[in-house]
Amino acid sequence: MVNHWLADEKAIALAKEFGTPLYVYDEKTLRAACRDMRGLLPNKNFRVSYSTKANSNLELLKIIRDEGVGADAMSPGEIYILKLAGFTNEQIFFVSNNASAEELSYAIEQDIVVSVDSLSQLELYGRLAPGGNVAIRFNPSSGLGHHDKVVTAGKATKFGVQTDFVPEVKTLLAKYGLRLIGINHHLGSLFLTKEYYLAGAAELLGVAKQFPGLSFIDFGGGFGVPYKESEDRLDLDGLSKAMDEELDKFLTEYDNKDVWFRIEPGRYIAAECGVLLGTANAIKTNYEKEYIGTDLGFNVLMRPVLYDSFHEIRIAGKTAHSKARSIAGNICESGDIIAKDRELPEATEGDIVMVLTAGAYGYSMSSNYNHRLRPAEVLVCADGTHRLIRRRETLEDLTLTSV
Ligand code: LLP
Repeated sequence: MVNHWLADEKAIALAKEFGTPLYVYDEKTLRAACRDMRGLLPNKNFRVSYSTKANSNLELLKIIRDEGVGADAMSPGEIYILKLAGFTNEQIFFVSNNASAEELSYAIEQDIVVSVDSLSQLELYGRLAPGGNVAIRFNPSSGLGHHDKVVTAGKATKFGVQTDFVPEVKTLLAKYGLRLIGINHHLGSLFLTKEYYLAGAAELLGVAKQFPGLSFIDFGGGFGVPYKESEDRLDLDGLSKAMDEELDKFLTEYDNKDVWFRIEPGRYIAAECGVLLGTANAIKTNYEKEYIGTDLGFNVLMRPVLYDSFHEIRIAGKTAHSKARSIAGNICESGDIIAKDRELPEATEGDIVMVLTAGAYGYSMSSNYNHRLRPAEVLVCADGTHRLIRRRETLEDLTLTSV
């Protein structure tokens, strides 16, 4: 069941006030999602780290921080914005991948914990920070995800150190006098049933047992939300219970009873609070196929084009779903279809199209392709008022980096 927090009339009013394309976020939904995640392991020494890549809007990050959630960063850019949002160095975890010496040094100089994800990067880290603390991302035997492109564990991915490289890891740690303070993994993105996540967690705990004295163990993100009306919510209570039992078992066998556990949800925190609004600019039939032509090109929301992802669509103010229609964007590529052959109401020019569950990997993956402008973002605050939290780009913004 999809979260419908934005009423059609409000969507129409916001589109009128700010123009489209427009991302609209709901503070209450965002805060509730943070609390769901924080509540996952109430009986454990447990922290939540928001995966910034899902949505890095500065104002949203401030709300997430206010909810007591830390953050993981994938790049110096994400570290930079997290610090602007008020996250402390201690709250930030740099989960690096193929980072340069400069990028690793950027984190090391700020005392931000870095996780490296290859023996080669461990060696580089050792040279940059001999005697320092480090974390390692391991790659368990299998991953999960809504599409091959977002499965980040197992034999077919670039991520992590394979789990049977533990002896090599130990040799490098000793060579540079490094202290391994934590291990992490990320299986992939979007699961709605708990089994694979639990199996992965058990595997990571098995790796942990080979490294006494760890400070933390991080099971990564991937927590899904329903994108389709027909999908059920992830059973967080069931997952919580099963994880808790698994961790109890582990703790009886592990030397450091103060070890703490972490998860890295991105989508779960950001997806449902966001709705993308667009305008129907053209209605057309092309050899029997009906298109609603909008300003929602894949520069604004890439997910449907990149992964065939499904987002529920509403035509604001219209309910009678009458015919298969496709929502097209305004980018010069045939693949620029945000929703294909859906039962949708008859739209007319000027109608507002609502794309639901668009808060995660929406704006953060947007681009200037076709020299289109990135959209504006608006926050509906907990008190019911709303405010602009990122202005729409202007034509002048397109040449800001020209020299
Ligand atoms: N931790 C690490 C190391 C990650 O690489 C990711 C996501 C996360 C946590 C958060 O995963 P989440 O909880 O959001 O599933 N653009 C794709 C998703 C790519 C996710 C990449 N890594 C999409 O739109 O579905």
